[in-house]
Amino acid sequence: MSDAPLTFVHLTDLHIGNPLVEDDHLYSDTATTLRRILAEVKTMVPAPRFVVASGDLTNQGDTGSYEELKAIIAEAELDIPVLYTLGNHDKRTGFYPVMLGRTEGLDKPYDHAQVIDGIHIILIDTSTPFKIGGHFEPGQIEWLVDELDRHPELPKLIVMHHAPALDQRPELEWESLSIADTDRLRAALEGRSVLGILSGHIHFDRVSNWYGIPVVVGIGQHAATDVLYLHEGLRMVSGASFAVGTVRPSGLTISFVPQPSERRELKVYTFAGMAELVKGHEAAAAVAAE
Ligand SMILES: [Fe+2]
Repeated sequence: MSDAPLTFVHLTDLHIGNPLVEDDHLYSDTATTLRRILAEVKTMVPAPRFVVASGDLTNQGDTGSYEELKAIIAEAELDIPVLYTLGNHDKRTGFYPVMLGRTEGLDKPYDHAQVIDGIHIILIDTSTPFKIGGHFEPGQIEWLVDELDRHPELPKLIVMHHAPALDQRPELEWESLSIADTDRLRAALEGRSVLGILSGHIHFDRVSNWYGIPVVVGIGQHAATDVLYLHEGLRMVSGASFAVGTVRPSGLTISFVPQPSERRELKVYTFAGMAELVKGHEAAAAVAAE
């Protein structure tokens, strides 16, 4: 890894719908949100080196929804890799044929990894058909350990839809990776150089320190969970975000970018203008000191 900060984009819970099908469980125009975000991503300075999308790529998991997602991504003409993992709203039988052109092994979890600019990105499929919470299937932890061993010297970004369980409360397992699999993940990651874990699923921006590893969850691009109503249930409100990740030798920084971004502008300070302001203050201080 060079000393120059490397930036990337974290999308989650895209919930893209099939434009030909009415969907009462789609609460916002996710296609428009994604198009707008991808347009913003193209204007970023410095340009991000990759995009990760941590599951719930579609709302219903049907092939028509993945075709819509694929079309939106293609039309954005990003010249950087977009790496996907799956969430509980996804269906492997819809994802594989459309997104990867794969026609066999459609029931297998989508685990994969890539090294980009010295960052070892590991994407683990925590989706389990017909379940809301996250689980590993037999063989996935073994795959993860093998993958971790493949580049032991490289810092790792782990991408998975369900964040590790933070509490030992089985009644909350629907909102995270299961407690048992969280323990197995913790053992697998022990002593490794992990920059962070990037997740979604719960639809609010949340940052945790999980045994020394930053776990970052984004609202995503569909609808936001009202954090102040969580004692009562799930109240979904409008709102979305994506995140800009920056990797430095010191570690990972995540900056959330609220959506929509047409907020009322109150004031703009250019860096050139700020430099003038500082000069003015220094001159005034020098006069005052005389
Ligand atoms: Fe979601």
